[in-house]
This record gives sequence, structure tokens and C-alpha cells, in this order.
Amino acid sequence: MITLRSIELTLPNAAAARDFFLNRWGLADAGIVGVTSYLRGSGSFPYLVSLTEGEASHVLSTTFEADSATIDAIRLAAKTSGLMVVDTVSRDPGAGQGILVRLPEGEVFRFLSGTTRVDPIAGRDLPVKLTHVVMNSADAEATAEMAERALGFKVSDRTRGMVFVRCSASHHSVAFARAGYPSLNHIAFEMEDMDAVMRGIGRMRDHGAAPAWGPGRHGPGANVYAYFISPFGAVVEYSTAVEVIADDYPVGSPQDWTWPPNRIDQWGISDKDFGALAKAEKVFTYAPLLEKV
Ligand SMILES: [Fe+2]
Repeated sequence: MITLRSIELTLPNAAAARDFFLNRWGLADAGIVGVTSYLRGSGSFPYLVSLTEGEASHVLSTTFEADSATIDAIRLAAKTSGLMVVDTVSRDPGAGQGILVRLPEGEVFRFLSGTTRVDPIAGRDLPVKLTHVVMNSADAEATAEMAERALGFKVSDRTRGMVFVRCSASHHSVAFARAGYPSLNHIAFEMEDMDAVMRGIGRMRDHGAAPAWGPGRHGPGANVYAYFISPFGAVVEYSTAVEVIADDYPVGSPQDWTWPPNRIDQWGISDKDFGALAKAEKVFTYAPLLEKV
């Protein structure tokens, strides 16, 4: 059992990003340690996003919870596959120990066991947890194949734009976009239901921000979505109702996921600012070293 938990970022003006997440996006304060601040959702994970003040906008790691036997299996498979693997003890509020695995294009995945939980926060408007992180890739097929071989993840669907990959029964916890370069594509936060997504959109509109894409309902995963370009550059998504799938889910191909003309979502209501999103999806790249995680 592997569960997506959190993403760790470093960026200039982390205080402004913290203000965005706390006062607009709807995350809650999970404390500040040194130059790193932690933001949590309404669920039981100790934090979902960490923000470390730094010169460049980098993704330090994407963190998953797993039991120690699963981590041992990943350590072996990742090393056998030629990936860089480093044992680690977490210094963040989630505690735990495990490994850092560096994928071929620089994405660092952290797998931890022995992590802590916190009491959930009541309130339907807040993001509950992360539901997926999408990474741009120079070679999305090769990266997804490595995620299957080295991490035990499974491809759920392929479209012309992406390879959707799962680590649990949720249709996708990560996806690799066929961008031609490595960077962070977006971070998706799970909302309790569709009403919570709509209230989130309203909260963002109260602060003068309209969705850059959506609302709408995706094809693969069937999740409801609304994407925004945050003031610190990263694309963030409110999402809900992602499909729960069985082990024998038939892997879809790009031919299975072709939209009719003039349609980019199941409902036929979604607008998308392609240019602004493409620019924002290049802002966060992967940290060159593991040492700051
Ligand atoms: Fe998404």
C-alpha cells in the first residue's frame, strides 16, 4: 500500500506562497521550522506542502507513505534499475524514515514509513489532501515505465498528452505529461465533494482569481477539476471524485480518450487558457541535488 502524502518545494519569497495557501487556497498552518513552513489540509496528514525559502523554484521531493516492507522492495528494485537511492530520516513534522529515489529526469520521490498523523479539521471547504502530482517529462513513456519497474506503480491510462500512473486504487496519484522537458506540471488537492470544489472556485474568485482551466470533468480518472495559476507560479488544482479502479483495470490508449470537436471535458463546459498554463508549467523544475530534502 502506497499513499501520496506531500510535496516539498523551495522557492523565492516562500512567505508570499504561504500567505496564498493559508488565506486563499484554504490550507491550514502546520508550523514553521527554520526557513521552511508547512501547510496541511483538513485530513489526517501532518502537512501537504512544505515551502522552503531559496533562490530557485524547485520541487525537492514528492512524498509517499508506505510500509517498511514495501520500501525495502522499492529500494531493491530501484537500485537494480540503476536509479539513485538514498536512505533518509525525515526531519519534517511528519517524521518517519525511508528512502529517496531519483527518477531519470530528476524527479525525487520520497517513500516513508513510521510517519505521524494528526486530528482532521472539520469543514467542507478545505482541501483534504493531495490527490495527484503531474510532472512534465522529456520522455513520459520511459519515466512511467521506470515507475512501474522500479517503484511498483501501474499505468492506468495513456492519452495523447499524458501517462496516468497509480500507486493505489485511485486512478492516478502521479502522471507524466509528454511535454518534451522535465518540470512540475501541477499539484492537485482533493476536495471532499463537488460542492467543495465550487466553493473553492468561489473563494478564489473573491480574491480576483478565475480558473485557468475548468471547472469541468476529466476523461481519464473522471475527476472534477478547476485549475488556477498561483501567484508564486505553480499550477494548482481543486479536484474531487477521482475514479477508484480495480487491479484488472484495462489500460486505455490515446485512441480511447479522444474528445469530440470543440470539447475538452465530459460536460462540455470547460475553458482553458493554454498559453498561460504552458508558461506556468515551466516555473518549478527539479532540484539538482538530494541533500536539501
Ligand atoms: Fe490534475
